[in-house]
Amino acid sequence: MGIIINNRPRRLRKSAIIRDAVAEIRLSKNQFIYPYFVTKGKNIKHPIAAMPGIHHFSPDELVKDVENALQLGINKVLLFGVGDAKHKDGHSAHDHIGSVPTAIRRLKAEFGQDIHISTDVCVCAYTTHGHCGILANEHVLNDPTLDILARMALTHAEAGADMVAPSDMMDGRVGVIRQLLDKEGFSQVPIMSYSVKYASHYYGPFREAADSSPQKGDRRGYQMDFRSTRESLREIALDEAEGADILMVKPALAYLDIIHQVRQQTDLPVACYNVSGEYSMLKYAASQGLVNERGMVMENMYAFTRAGANLIITYHAKDILANKWLP
Ligand code: PBG
Ligand code: ZN
Repeated sequence: MGIIINNRPRRLRKSAIIRDAVAEIRLSKNQFIYPYFVTKGKNIKHPIAAMPGIHHFSPDELVKDVENALQLGINKVLLFGVGDAKHKDGHSAHDHIGSVPTAIRRLKAEFGQDIHISTDVCVCAYTTHGHCGILANEHVLNDPTLDILARMALTHAEAGADMVAPSDMMDGRVGVIRQLLDKEGFSQVPIMSYSVKYASHYYGPFREAADSSPQKGDRRGYQMDFRSTRESLREIALDEAEGADILMVKPALAYLDIIHQVRQQTDLPVACYNVSGEYSMLKYAASQGLVNERGMVMENMYAFTRAGANLIITYHAKDILANKWLP
């Protein structure tokens, strides 16, 4: 008489307890890396208009904020330098008294091994033209840029960085950085490569935050074309061969297919970067009452993990932990 349905998936959706029991994907605070924008000076904690809740910090203020972050359970940070002198060749990127090395030394003096510090290695915040390398005739030169990137990575390692993260997309940079770090006694400092980095419109708010927009042109001559898929596999194969320790996909939300594909291909840990545009879009929508911030943020975090990301670099990390959004 009645309808016979043998399989009813809804049985395991009936209560929170059973849903929690069968949920496949677990999230942990240990997956998060929180980005910071650091600048020289004192007493600086300036809000970044394009990124609600995110600030520029001078080293003294950074120490206070990181102390807070540590209490929340954030123990990994990624540092970006802002406001250092800009030159045509970007050489202040490897200045020992630059914003990033100064911030590293302060944090390490204060927190030692309790904090794991990664640094972005790229010159776009240090060049007058805002490109990620040496510019000649509106073209970013690959090989001449490698030296300055390696020197920048070395400067960070010497200041005490725990990991370096090249984001420039020059060919061969992982190998060159690895060689110099090894030669100078930093064979134990890993490289998290921005292996699969697309030329994306989602970096807009970041470029305001880092003051790193190209004055002319765009980054499509060195970052990846979002119409390509399989090229990401070539990029990760090259970075693996050159000695990368962690492979990153960036951006994250519009690139879940790429994260998944990279996860299938490599045995290295995979990171994804939930970038500024993804963050600001959500924050602005939430501030207008259009979406449930907690729900949407957590849905995204699970999606990144489901796709295969082990590590998530996200500006949401503080909100997630401060508001206890993790189960
Ligand atoms: C520097 C760099 C960028 C980001 C990280 N490192 C910007 C860019 O490539 O233009 C973007 C991060 C974000 O949008 O949150 N090369
Ligand atoms: Zn750059």
